[in-house]
Amino acid sequence: MEATRTTVLCVCSVLFVLTDVGCELIHIRSSVHHGTKGKDLLLSVDARFPLDEAEIQGSWSHINVNGASTILVSFNKESKIIDMMYRKRLDFKEPNASLSIRNLNEDDEGYYKLSLNIEFHNEKGTVKKEERTIHVTVDELVSRPVIEKKPSYTVIEDKANVTWTCSVEKGTRVAFRWLRDNVLLTPSERYHFTQDKSKLLISPVRKEDKGTYRCAVSNPVSQIIESRGVELNVYYGPYNLEVNSGQGLRTGKVFTINPGELVHFECQADSNPPNSYIWISKSPNATKIITTGPQLQVKSDELAQTEDYLCRAFNNMTKKQDEAQFTLVVASLRTVKEKYADDGRSTSLLAAIAVCSSFIIGFMLLFLFRRACHPKRVLMNIYNRPFSEQKRPHRSGNKVDSFITKNAFIYT
Ligand SMILES: *[C@@H]1O[C@H](CO)[C@@H](O)[C@H](O)[C@H]1NC(C)=O
Ligand SMILES: *[C@@H]1O[C@H](CO)[C@@H](O)[C@H](O)[C@H]1NC(C)=O
Ligand SMILES: *[C@@H]1O[C@H](CO)[C@@H](O)[C@H](O)[C@H]1NC(C)=O
Ligand SMILES: *[C@@H]1O[C@H](CO)[C@@H](O)[C@H](O)[C@H]1NC(C)=O
Repeated sequence: MEATRTTVLCVCSVLFVLTDVGCELIHIRSSVHHGTKGKDLLLSVDARFPLDEAEIQGSWSHINVNGASTILVSFNKESKIIDMMYRKRLDFKEPNASLSIRNLNEDDEGYYKLSLNIEFHNEKGTVKKEERTIHVTVDELVSRPVIEKKPSYTVIEDKANVTWTCSVEKGTRVAFRWLRDNVLLTPSERYHFTQDKSKLLISPVRKEDKGTYRCAVSNPVSQIIESRGVELNVYYGPYNLEVNSGQGLRTGKVFTINPGELVHFECQADSNPPNSYIWISKSPNATKIITTGPQLQVKSDELAQTEDYLCRAFNNMTKKQDEAQFTLVVASLRTVKEKYADDGRSTSLLAAIAVCSSFIIGFMLLFLFRRACHPKRVLMNIYNRPFSEQKRPHRSGNKVDSFITKNAFIYT
């Protein structure tokens, strides 16, 4: 027995030196314990000495959040006294001093302190004191969150604010998070959160805020639970108005079309809801609406030689509009292309130089290649090698010797 004790003490001292941690007679796995309301709590203690070799005396006490202390149980090896209030809910595990409490409630929060006096049989008169404290929190499991948007209708960009509220029916110490299209949202110039993050205010709302919003909740005893997704729709635009045509020749804001051609134009702008479009023809004398809708069809032979047009896009919800003006020129496109060909002359000269250079480089490469592997020499090698090897009997299989001979033959 004495030998065992000495060994334990030796190991302990070594550990103490190595780890710089006191050698414990008892060990508590974690100094913080997150308990769940209605569930059981086990405060587990590992004894690091042979229990039958010592006298033990101790107590577990509870210090609640207000600082009031209650002795839950006092014990020694022969007996235990459990506080009457706890008699139905408390289990004291005698061999190792672990404590378990059934059906936790909020009042069970606080600090749990274990005090132990240990006297080893072979060391009578020396009482070792051990004390451990465990912090216990008690939380209710969180229920699925519910998300709400205000106002519930579709809002107009820059003119409205949107407030999102996340609520849970059950749960304590709830942590809230917000996601748009599964991306976590953080505070910014337009995104304001309440202290507990249960509310999100978007002020003012913008096009890029469109998407599916969710809130997510968790607490020390619950995994993250997400709410259902709620759509935020925003009226915006028109933006990036453009007039395009598959026909004609475009230079900036001027479209040149062939006489007699039927040309289609399309007007496009980013907008929610879709824009309404009108096409306007402008001449010095009169401005008139030709048609409505995103497309315009023009017969060039019904036009003057040049004409100015305008596409106007209007969003009936944002009450905003945008317009693009362009000029239509009726001219034979061939003559236009010839004009461009004049400008292109220097370009073709450059192209000619480039082609000539590539020919010269090509010839030079071919010449070098022919020098490097002269067909005659290749033929000589093919015909002569097996012949020389036949003529020379392999006496010893000396590879270096035959290699040198071969090369010597080739270059003679
Ligand atoms: C303490 O004793 C109890 C009852 O025997 C046992 O269930 C528990 O696992 C023990 N705890 C440790 C840490 O050994
Ligand atoms: C939106 O919030 C801002 C402050 O963030 C406030 O000044 C403004 O009046 C609000 N607009 C609406 C339409 O409620
Ligand atoms: C526009 O007005 C001018 C005179 O102000 C006139 O000569 C011309 O014919 C008019 N054009 C059209 C298309 O009415
Ligand atoms: C606004 O425009 C959209 C799309 O062009 C159309 O469906 C809607 O009826 C219009 N609303 C009003 C109030 O004019």
